[in-house]
Amino acid sequence: MNVLVAGGSGFIGTTLCAELVERGHAVTALSRSPDDAGLPDGVAPAIGDVSAYESIADTVAGHDAVVNLVSLSPLYDPRGGPSHEESHLGGTENLVRAADAGGVSRFLQMSALGADPNGDTAYIRAKGRAEAVVRESDLEWTIVRPSVVFGDGGEFVAFTKTLTTPYVTGLPGGGKTRFQPIWVGDLVPMLADALEDDAHVGETYDLAGPQITTLADVTKLVYAAEGKDVTIVPIPMGLAKIGLAAVDSLPFVPFGPDQARSLEFDNTVADNDVTAFGRDPADLRTLGSYLGLDGTDHRRTRSETA
Ligand SMILES: NC(=O)c1ccc[n+]([C@@H]2O[C@H](COP(=O)([O-])OP(=O)(O)OC[C@H]3O[C@@H](n4cnc5c(N)ncnc54)[C@H](OP(=O)(O)O)[C@@H]3O)[C@@H](O)[C@H]2O)c1
Repeated sequence: MNVLVAGGSGFIGTTLCAELVERGHAVTALSRSPDDAGLPDGVAPAIGDVSAYESIADTVAGHDAVVNLVSLSPLYDPRGGPSHEESHLGGTENLVRAADAGGVSRFLQMSALGADPNGDTAYIRAKGRAEAVVRESDLEWTIVRPSVVFGDGGEFVAFTKTLTTPYVTGLPGGGKTRFQPIWVGDLVPMLADALEDDAHVGETYDLAGPQITTLADVTKLVYAAEGKDVTIVPIPMGLAKIGLAAVDSLPFVPFGPDQARSLEFDNTVADNDVTAFGRDPADLRTLGSYLGLDGTDHRRTRSETA
């Protein structure tokens, strides 16, 4: 297949591009500022901004499949920059329109767990509305909705460190928000399968890792990997929101009220659709294993082995 990966230079994108090349596909990675040096071998770079239709239409045309991995991180606070609505919703509208006009048949949309047009954060609302755009198209679409994704180049571990300190740290609500993190090395083959196998057309999948873990657990794991203890001091959620609203005016602080709201909701699945890809949730990589905290799983991401 001739595959265009929009957002192919990002965290999940570079891993997916490498997987697709390895499976024998011709791959182009589209983003606003692709860096040849950062792309896996064999991947062609293309410049375009999904929020500007004319900048992507010609590039999209003629591909067999398009993958939409464009992201403004849910942790990103758009003050002054593009909004979640422009990037996630407008970007999806433009990619779907360009795919339709350009004879593309397959479309894989990366959404997010809990995506909901009436959700509580701008990110989740834009993701929910973007899903509707994809479903209403005539393309052979598949939508995947992962929980938080970890791996080399990902934000999850780095963000946990930004939010906390070793030894003693305050966490909103005591860090009881629950996640079900999935390793990028487990997720990406499922994305490639979703493109290749007709059985996945018209399906929406909630994908998560093997364990439900709280933000407090993740904080302890991240510092344990550095040989440090941490005691969690609960900060009442209401107080945390005031604090986070106060830092909202500081452009260098990557955190605002929407991000505080996102910590009020669990990010876990009732049924883990990794089974649709022949995977048993229990066999997926844990965050602890990735951080080197148990010796039972020695799999590594591409960049770790490179
Ligand atoms: N990482 C997670 O934990 C997680 C969890 C659930 C869902 N997701 C979803 O998975 C997808 C990929 O996430 P990721 O973590 O890999 O994101 P990422 O590392 O932030 O990569 C985002 C990519 O999108 C490109 N991009 C951003 N705005 C663009 C625009 N206007 N036009 C064209 N390209 C643009 C970026 O390149 P330039 O900046 O050069 O344009 C980059 O290649 C996203 O849809 C995200 O919402 C991620």
